Amino acid sequence: MKRILVTGAAGQIGTELTSSLVARYRAGEILATDIRHPADWARDCPAEQLDCLDLDALRATVKRFGATAIHHLAAILSATAEADPVRAYRINMNGLVNVLQVAAERRCRVFVPSSIAAFGPGTPRDPAPQSTVQRPTTMYGVTKVAGELLCDYYHGRFGVDARGLRFPGLISYAAPPGGGTTDYAVEMFHASLCEGRYTCFLRADTRMDMMYMPDAIRAVIELMEASPTALTHRNAFNITAMQFTPAELAAEIRAHVPGFRIDYDPDPLRQSIADSWPSRLDDSEAREQWGWRHEYGLPDMAADMFRGLHAQPALTAAASAGR
Ligand SMILES: NC(=O)c1ccc[n+]([C@@H]2O[C@H](COP(=O)([O-])OP(=O)(O)OC[C@H]3O[C@@H](n4cnc5c(N)ncnc54)[C@H](O)[C@@H]3O)[C@@H](O)[C@H]2O)c1
Repeated sequence: MKRILVTGAAGQIGTELTSSLVARYRAGEILATDIRHPADWARDCPAEQLDCLDLDALRATVKRFGATAIHHLAAILSATAEADPVRAYRINMNGLVNVLQVAAERRCRVFVPSSIAAFGPGTPRDPAPQSTVQRPTTMYGVTKVAGELLCDYYHGRFGVDARGLRFPGLISYAAPPGGGTTDYAVEMFHASLCEGRYTCFLRADTRMDMMYMPDAIRAVIELMEASPTALTHRNAFNITAMQFTPAELAAEIRAHVPGFRIDYDPDPLRQSIADSWPSRLDDSEAREQWGWRHEYGLPDMAADMFRGLHAQPALTAAASAGR
């Protein structure tokens, strides 16, 4: 029987991954944890407060729950990490090594998300191959490359079945994004409904790799269920779905919100982070090794985002008040 402990479960990915795991398995087989108290976020399965920097607490929780897998989502994202790089290093690296250490002791399978941020300006931009130069210029990227290597190390040295994906920017309506460079896309959807206009912190022509959250969640589940014998890489698979610029997203949004206006006021920090990343990942290894296929392109994603946002009473009220 599977028993999956999720760290960072209150975040953008954790909110939807936890619900999907509950729907696929059973609520009692999932334990959602986060450093934030569950009173502020818990939904449809058992939930606890857990700081993944606290090795003893992590070890005790994994043992008590009888976890067979840990989905480790707790991290500090790209733009937030640059505001306090040492804190980001501590959480992203020490949290991960704690999870891998406990996984080695308890024989757990582990899921660890990497990111397009594991690449840097020296990487081929379009597309970035599965195996290529990885010299990121952000602290977030440094922790993602080191995390990929740590997962390989724990697999080779201790036999931990640590698997992972390099996500592009993720777009969703269920939970707010956590301080990444691609957050502008989610912000633009919300602003289009609430204010009818948006000022973008990236240049109009900044082409970035993106994915709709249902595809990302399905990728996690499919990779974790894939037969180990099918996987040559196991960890840090490139996956991709769509590439667009802020101007192209604004045009798509205008098809749903006529009159939507966009201005640009690039933020130097986030613009430089975006410029250092590839504009597209080559995900042919994921497609060949475990059958990865994306479903959502830009028009399908935008239509589903508006369907989801219109179903949120708080947003609908804010939209009416803002107009
Ligand atoms: N969202 C994206 O676009 C994206 C893209 C690529 C990779 N990723 C990766 O996916 C993972 C999850 O990202 P997300 O978007 O859900 O992030 P998020 O910021 O929305 O959520 C992270 C969660 O971790 C929690 N957390 C922080 N410190 C913690 C600690 N010490 N112990 C326990 N919990 C702690 C936070 O409270 C938060 O709920 C991260 O590793 C991130 O790097 C995300």
